[in-house]
This record gives sequence, structure tokens and C-alpha cells, in this order.
Amino acid sequence: MTERLWTFAAGAAGPWRITGVRAVSGQALPEAPRLDRIAGDAAGGGLWSLRGITSNERYVNRDEKQALAALSPPLGRAQACCAVLIPIRKSAAWWALAQDERRAIMEEQSQHIAHGLRVLPAVARRLHHCRDLSADEPFDFLTWFEFAPEHEAAFDHLLDLLRASPEWAYVEREFELRARLDLGPEN
Ligand code: HEM
Repeated sequence: MTERLWTFAAGAAGPWRITGVRAVSGQALPEAPRLDRIAGDAAGGGLWSLRGITSNERYVNRDEKQALAALSPPLGRAQACCAVLIPIRKSAAWWALAQDERRAIMEEQSQHIAHGLRVLPAVARRLHHCRDLSADEPFDFLTWFEFAPEHEAAFDHLLDLLRASPEWAYVEREFELRARLDLGPEN
């Protein structure tokens, strides 16, 4: 069975060395030396952990779906030694909107998908949903990105565009964690 539930565990163990954390909006999470992305419900032991499930897409149209399928690289590429974990919670006002209203804000007003497609295939991404796991998950989404060091500037530019967009007016908590894979002495 393909695993849909994933745990991000921060603590002493894990392949990813955390290089920086920052609360973009709302409360921060404690600093930790390392991060692991573990299949299944693997909470416990570390400083903090977050869980989310991968799911079907909600908003993409046919053309976007095909473009994403054609351009999206897999996670775990050898050269993609930089990762960013961005947990996000959106406001009650966002969740009170209808599906078509949310789509309009996300794409017609904010071009989230169009801007995002421009950094593919350099950036690999995975969206995890938290809302349906339990009533008290601290975030709605866990977004995870992997890329090679030379693509960090393009990724940062995308972050600037998204955070300045109308969609982000509905983001009430956002945390940013950057990490590196230690590949060997030359890194
Ligand atoms: C790397 C390029 C990116 C691409 C191609 C991309 C594409 C997408 C797509 C297609 C969706 C909609 C999925 C659906 O239909 O349900 C989505 C949702 C989302 N993306 Fe991105 N994205 C990118 C980068 C980012 C970044 C950098 C962030 C965080 C700063 C982010 C945060 C989110 C969130 C939170 C959602 C869920 C929104 C919701 O359902 O309300 N994305 N993205």
C-alpha cells in the first residue's frame, strides 16, 4: 500500500540537518538540530512532530493537472540536498468560503499554480493535509520542498510572490524550516 500518512519529526535524529527556522506568522516551533520525514504515525521521542496526509487535488483544472504531472519531479533526487518545510494554517474566513471562491482567490487572483509551475522541475513538492486527522492539529497543511542549492533563489522568489498574494491574507500561522542533507565531506 502506498503510504499517505507522514510524520515530520524534529529532534536529535534524522537525515536532514536543520539550518534555520523562522515564524513567518503566529507562534514559532522550538529549534531542533535535525528533521526526519517518516512514513506513518511516528510521533514521540523528539522535540516536536507534525502529521499530515497526502490527498487528491481539490482546485486544479485539467490543463494544470497535466502540466503538474508532466513537470513534477520525485522527492529524493540525489542533487536535491536542500529542503524546506512550511506548515500553514489558514483562517476561519478561508474555510467559510465555498470551493469555487477559494479556487478564485488561489489562482485567478493569486496565480499560485502558475507561479509554482515556473519553478518546476527544479523544485520537488509534496502537500500534506492535516485538518481531517483530528480537531486539534496545529496546522492545516504541511508543505515540503526539495531542490538543489542553485535553485534556492528561484524558490525564495516564489515565496515572495505567494506571500504578497491575496491568498496569503488568509494565512494566520506559517512557520518556515530550512534543512540540508549531509551528503559527504565536500558539502
Ligand atoms: C513549488 C512550486 C509550487 C507548485 C507547483 C504548487 C502547486 C500547488 C497546487 C497545484 C496546489 C493545489 C492542490 C489542489 O488542487 O488541492 C497547491 C496548494 C497549496 N500550496 Fe502550493 N505550489 C507550489 C509552492 C508552494 C509554496 C512555496 C507554498 C508555501 C509557501 C505552497 C503552499 C500551498 C498550500 C498551503 C496549499 C494548499 C492550499 C489550500 O488547499 O488551501 N505552495 N499548490
